[in-house]
Amino acid sequence: MTDVKQKALAAFEEKFGVKADFLSYAPGRVNLIGEHTDYNDGFVMPCAIKFGTAIAARFNGSDKMRVLAVDVNGDYDEFTVTADMQKHESKTWSNYLRGVTKLICERGCKVEGMDVAICGDVPLGAGLSSSASLEVSFGNLLSQACDLNIDLQDIALIGQAAEAYIGCKCGIMDQTISACGQEGCAMRLDCRTLEKQHVKVPQGLEVLIVNSNVKHALVGGEYNERRAQCEEAARVLGVKALRDATMEMLDAKRAELDDVTYRRARHVITEDDRVLAAVKAFESGDLAKLAELMYASHCSMRDDFEITIPEIDGLVEIIRKAIGENAAVRMTGGGFGGSVVAVVEPAKIPAITAAIDAEYEKISGRKATIIETYAAAGAHFTKL
Ligand code: GLA
Repeated sequence: MTDVKQKALAAFEEKFGVKADFLSYAPGRVNLIGEHTDYNDGFVMPCAIKFGTAIAARFNGSDKMRVLAVDVNGDYDEFTVTADMQKHESKTWSNYLRGVTKLICERGCKVEGMDVAICGDVPLGAGLSSSASLEVSFGNLLSQACDLNIDLQDIALIGQAAEAYIGCKCGIMDQTISACGQEGCAMRLDCRTLEKQHVKVPQGLEVLIVNSNVKHALVGGEYNERRAQCEEAARVLGVKALRDATMEMLDAKRAELDDVTYRRARHVITEDDRVLAAVKAFESGDLAKLAELMYASHCSMRDDFEITIPEIDGLVEIIRKAIGENAAVRMTGGGFGGSVVAVVEPAKIPAITAAIDAEYEKISGRKATIIETYAAAGAHFTKL
């Protein structure tokens, strides 16, 4: 059993004085390619990671959730189970749970009160979807413990709606991979139809994450602003979403778009093409092609979508130099800090580590954290 699961169970017993009856778990994710394409009805290729959120729980016979957040300094919150849920004015972590509870109640489901202890090890603000893993783990707990039979894709949609309840109009990528990921595989997800294809991580390649340790925050204006710019571009092009547009269509309307909106749309349209090509390159283990596509994705995020920061751009260049040929590396996640992802031959990792140790602090004034991960399984639940 992983550390966070054990910690959640032990903390539960210590706080509530009995053993938990349920254990729920959902992983964080790293996105290999396809950034800011999900809310444009496009394509993404994330994989679940070895970090996640564990929740130990037991019915308490009341209509209240009593929740301990082990890794938010043992913070605690209590709220009544109702569709008429109010947000907590300061405990953001609890609002994810309040949101998920509210949305499940709104479906007419009967949710019973529970005592809950939560413990996660997804680094916060690293662009690795700690919040999605919390929403999915908690949603699946309520569904399974209360026999609600909500399928995992619906749990993901509930998690996404909980983000909107809190203030981030995010897409469906993070929650879907957290809920439905398969061990050893990345996922090609069509964010319009929600059709999934599990794509094996090729033999001899590994997923490496480097956290810049510059924290990013999604509950903020920049993300929603990018989304609004994409929707404006789609409106001018006369399409439902940028998924339906081509570069020819965009260029034909260039005069009607300001430069920023044009470049935002160019990122999304070209990124969708890169995802589809990257799935093929990944499937066949074509590292040279994957490297070309991932770096093109990075440049597009840097120059057109403008969501990278100097520390992240620097990290990408340090890693590219260290790997030499076939450097499949790019920023991952929402942007404005967070992490870089690379698909690498394990033999290259010592050189990458040495280069980061030697150079990253000089450009950023801080140390980076290097995380080797495997492609983990999605959410699971156990009745103890
Ligand atoms: C965040 C959002 C996702 C997605 C990414 C960017 O992780 O939650 O829905 O939009 O940013 O690709």
